[in-house]
Amino acid sequence: MKISEKLFKRAVKHIPGGVNSPVRSFKSVGSNPVYIESGKGAKIYDADGKEYIDFCGSWGPLVLGHAHPDVVRAVRAASLKGLSFGACNRLEVEMAELFCKMIPYADMVRMVNSGTEAVMTALRLARAFTGRTHILKFGGSYHGHADCLLSSAGSGLLTNSIPSSAGVTPNVISEVITVPYNKANEVRNAFKKNGDKIAAVIVEPVAGNMGLVLPGKGFLETLRELCSEYGSCLIFDEVITGFRFHAGSYASIAGILPDISVFGKIIGGGMPIGAIAGGRKIMKMLAPLGNVYQAGTLSGNPVALAAGIATLEILRKTNPYPQMAELAERFAMKVNKFARDHRIGAHGAVYGGVFTLFFSGKKPLKNLEDVKTCDTGLFAEYFNFMLQRGFYISPSQFELNFVSAAHTKDEIDAAAEASIEFLSSIIA
Ligand SMILES: Cc1ncc(COP(=O)(O)O)c(C=O)c1O
Repeated sequence: MKISEKLFKRAVKHIPGGVNSPVRSFKSVGSNPVYIESGKGAKIYDADGKEYIDFCGSWGPLVLGHAHPDVVRAVRAASLKGLSFGACNRLEVEMAELFCKMIPYADMVRMVNSGTEAVMTALRLARAFTGRTHILKFGGSYHGHADCLLSSAGSGLLTNSIPSSAGVTPNVISEVITVPYNKANEVRNAFKKNGDKIAAVIVEPVAGNMGLVLPGKGFLETLRELCSEYGSCLIFDEVITGFRFHAGSYASIAGILPDISVFGKIIGGGMPIGAIAGGRKIMKMLAPLGNVYQAGTLSGNPVALAAGIATLEILRKTNPYPQMAELAERFAMKVNKFARDHRIGAHGAVYGGVFTLFFSGKKPLKNLEDVKTCDTGLFAEYFNFMLQRGFYISPSQFELNFVSAAHTKDEIDAAAEASIEFLSSIIA
């Protein structure tokens, strides 16, 4: 029996489903997880010594690849000085200054330990700021596992076909309005009906948790206009998009100013992190300046911040973005050409350094209803084929794959060739 299989057998005895986060279980792709021992650059190695080219990148944080020497050096140096103080430390100040320089519209930032925490605080802030109750969100988006956002959500809920989590009360859900992504008119109608109740619109400015779905022309602009017209807060959830497409926010690319932004993943360089950022007026509402409570034993942890600062500095200095975008585009072009030439119902959606190979004949996919046309059985076959060939793609049809600064053209070509081989096998 393989070591990964033995570890999973032990894991299921004491960890629910054997995993500490549902999508890792490989349940939706009909196999058992491989246990990862180490990673270096674009590659990871499992407990049985098998090598994979990694396109999951820890679900986004590892934009520089695994164990980047400068990031590891920074983490080592910080840990030698102590792992946590629960008191003010120098790195918090350095991170806040660097962050606010890279996100020019953020006057202030509060560090937390996860994207979920950051979102929870952003919603609380918006409700306190507006004195309203309701949140408008989009079907198929995922903003972490705060109770009120767990209906019609993407990521693991979509992957495991869970429409809404048990344990979430109807009262909590009753304050949430869910609208299809990219349907500006439906957002407008929701505002016409409930505008005076809506505290915030929360949106992934590029949706990643139903697979890659891009905002249509004018969609984000309409959200901004409606929020301004009705006095609601616009929250950009940049947990994935922040520092993914350039050394800053997606908001800057879109030219839209959100009232609150949340970040995570990349800003921790692979360590647990989250952040809430915004203008001074709204951020001053956070305790101890204001009456919106938020706290954390490990918030602003020096080791996590050391990894985050090192990562952001490298991104700023090296600008790996054009190269990552070119490689992702190269993968999608090759696969799409083959699928088109052979009339296969599959296509790679791509933006910047991220892509999703959708097993659907419908194109482009614009919202949750569209992505549900995907053949998840076929995706499961594709996933297992790729895994066996030494490519660790994200284990769900409804997620992104990430190209890092460490990936090479040869690795991308190898992944495209393997994908094409899989597509050939389904025509044969
Ligand atoms: C867009 C988005 N927001 C929030 C979260 C939650 O972040 P975390 O898993 O760090 O709690 C995620 C996680 O994947 C995410 O993709």
